[in-house]
Amino acid sequence: PSPLRVAVLGCGVVGTQVVRLLTEQADDLAARVGAPLELVGVAVRNVDAPRDPVVDRALLTADADELVARADIVVELMGGLEPARGLLLRAIEHGASVVTANKALLAQDGPTLYRAADSAGVDVYYEAAVAGAIPIVRPLRESLTGDKVRRVLGIVNGTTNYVLDRMATDGLELDDAVKEAQGLGYAEADPTADVEGYDAASKAAILASLAFHTRVHLDDVYREGITSVTASDVAWAERTGHAVKLLAIAEATDDGVSVRVHPALVPLDHPLAGVRGAYNAVFVEAEAAGELMFYGRGAGGAPTASAVLGDVVSAARHRVLGGKSPEESTYADLPLLPHASA
Ligand code: HSE
Repeated sequence: PSPLRVAVLGCGVVGTQVVRLLTEQADDLAARVGAPLELVGVAVRNVDAPRDPVVDRALLTADADELVARADIVVELMGGLEPARGLLLRAIEHGASVVTANKALLAQDGPTLYRAADSAGVDVYYEAAVAGAIPIVRPLRESLTGDKVRRVLGIVNGTTNYVLDRMATDGLELDDAVKEAQGLGYAEADPTADVEGYDAASKAAILASLAFHTRVHLDDVYREGITSVTASDVAWAERTGHAVKLLAIAEATDDGVSVRVHPALVPLDHPLAGVRGAYNAVFVEAEAAGELMFYGRGAGGAPTASAVLGDVVSAARHRVLGGKSPEESTYADLPLLPHASA
């Protein structure tokens, strides 16, 4: 079978690891897909910037438009709304399948992408947009779709979980702990997105949309970050038998769906209280399944790249075997509860 042409847009912490895995595991991936995956280019802003040697410089291009036009699968790891959205829409128009880790774009304009993909008959995959390596999009989108989800509680931002953990264990203040997290490659380019809860709010919108088969926009999510939490708050919480966690909460009530992100006191005997460092976890309560917890590395290059590669393989298999990923257009009209905006 002829090779599937893969284009990668963006070559930061995650993009570099995606390129590494595509290169190093090319034979295994070809065997799993049933056709070779050929990395045809990596779009970057600055082709002359220093890079990890794992990235073949001959693949770099500053012309993302041209690259997208000659790919079967486009992997978007640039983040931000534009030019990511325009490039993905053009990729879909060209008939490419798309894989994205762009939670902000999905939380603000996901339905535009899903509708475009539905009419073009191609797939949009985004396992890496929520909780890095942890499989949670597919379980909600597929495995649990015959059940009735009641509530989703998530620690979905590794940076703030790391920060709160360092405040608890070593009494560090917020700014110092944030600097550490940045040094470890967990934080967003602008760590405000982490500490103010925007990153978690985007992920909450995506999780809630999947769990409740509805359209939750970032603006529907009540958001409060961790900037007002001090080391002494965290110490006090521990003394009363609680951990302070930034939780993303989505729950179905009798009146509709409520979605929020805020620091919460989690009893120390709840499984979420034991989630340490930059780890993430998503706790799902469903009518028939009962309680489930998905746990693992939620940030960092290689863990997030693992989820991206899984999506690339799925997209590639669908192209080889025919078929289509689960539809995004089957929404129930569950009302969203108004929120008291932060
Ligand atoms: N900055 C994010 C986090 C990266 O800390 O979880 C993954 O989206």
